[in-house]
Amino acid sequence: MTRSSLSFPSGFLWGTATAAYQIEGAVSVDGRGESIWDRFAHTPGKTRNGETGDMACDHYRRWRDDIAMMRDLGVNAYRFSIAWPRVVPNGTGATNQAGLGFYDRLVDTLLEAGITPFPTLYHWDLPQSLEDAGGWANRQTAYAFASYVANVGERLGDRVHDWWTINEPWCVAELGYRTGTHAPGRTDPAAAAAATHHVLLAHGLGMSAMRAAAPQCRLGIAVNADDHISRSAHPGDIAAAELAHAVNTRLYLDPVLRGEYPTSAVAHRRWNQAEVRPGDMEIISAPMDHLGVNYYTRRISHDPKVVDAARPQPIVQPDLPQTTMGWEIYADGLRDVLVRFNNDYDLPPTYITESGVAFADEVVDGAIHDEDRRRYLEDHFAAAAEALAAGVPLRGYFIWTLLDNFEWQHGYGQRFGLVYTDYASQRRIIKDSGHWFADVINLT
Ligand code: FCB
Repeated sequence: MTRSSLSFPSGFLWGTATAAYQIEGAVSVDGRGESIWDRFAHTPGKTRNGETGDMACDHYRRWRDDIAMMRDLGVNAYRFSIAWPRVVPNGTGATNQAGLGFYDRLVDTLLEAGITPFPTLYHWDLPQSLEDAGGWANRQTAYAFASYVANVGERLGDRVHDWWTINEPWCVAELGYRTGTHAPGRTDPAAAAAATHHVLLAHGLGMSAMRAAAPQCRLGIAVNADDHISRSAHPGDIAAAELAHAVNTRLYLDPVLRGEYPTSAVAHRRWNQAEVRPGDMEIISAPMDHLGVNYYTRRISHDPKVVDAARPQPIVQPDLPQTTMGWEIYADGLRDVLVRFNNDYDLPPTYITESGVAFADEVVDGAIHDEDRRRYLEDHFAAAAEALAAGVPLRGYFIWTLLDNFEWQHGYGQRFGLVYTDYASQRRIIKDSGHWFADVINLT
């Protein structure tokens, strides 16, 4: 790729993203408490081959090398997550200074390497003790989150200025409490509806706690942003796609950016909104400094009379390749969701907080020739450039992910990294796509 083929403004951030439970390992070290993902992964039948994050990428011990690797790649920003059960092992109560100390050193070393930290405060590892008290279905969890955030802000807020509150509230509520495919594995629609509200309330309360602790901070939420489109121009299909967009995206974005839940999604869910108390929507819709968009694929909807529109299955077109996750590769969708968001909302500065791809990488003579991933990234970068040209206030792009890691219920079977992880030896090998990404950063 040459500079002329893609144009990004100077100062545009190129980063990588990870999450604590997916890479850290060291689950019982330095006073870390149990999280819902420890419990879930250790429950038979929940993850591929019973795999867990006990070891993951051993990043809790290898973090210095991992930062050095990022410095070699030339990334200018890093989105990682802070594990709540390391900082407040029981969810509420005593703060664990040893756990905070890990992130303290991580931040200092990132800054020394010229990499701007963009931590996420919640990437799904709820302390198990809070789940035992009802988890995200319990309003108190939102207040516990705010108090944990205050602890983090007091310790790191002098050096960290950019934060994400919650990663993908759709996954938290929908996959955690409705489908049960993610921790805590509950299948209770009423709990899922309550979790939707409480996780957004946590975002709002967390922002205000962080602003009190670190007034210089910039804050936002990172949302799922699949591109919901209709199978055809038939009005039934179009209505289905709109409903899918409302239930899966607007249900999380409208409250934050408009201060209200979309009525179509609320009606579809038959949600009586008993949890929504006076003043909550003001807390949830407090101004954000930036928005994070996580894009992976498109979802095509049928007429709701044929299928449940709110749970569209991706239709894989025979002419479009898919990833090992079974997700269709559709780069234009990244441009389209960004443009759609920019038309529908008054967007703050926006980052692609996740975009990336799993393929069946193989090591050949000590290298990984992942031309498929390189092409995927190039096409998605082009889509991002088109969104920028169309006026979307895009400020940066974080690739999911730095290194192959524990992909939740899929265990170690999905390799999303720019860097290959050999789990037996914990050796890392930069894939060809990682070398290419380094060149892109150099040129732009
Ligand atoms: C996103 C998650 C991230 C990773 C990617 C593939 O939904 O935020 O942790 O699992 O999908």
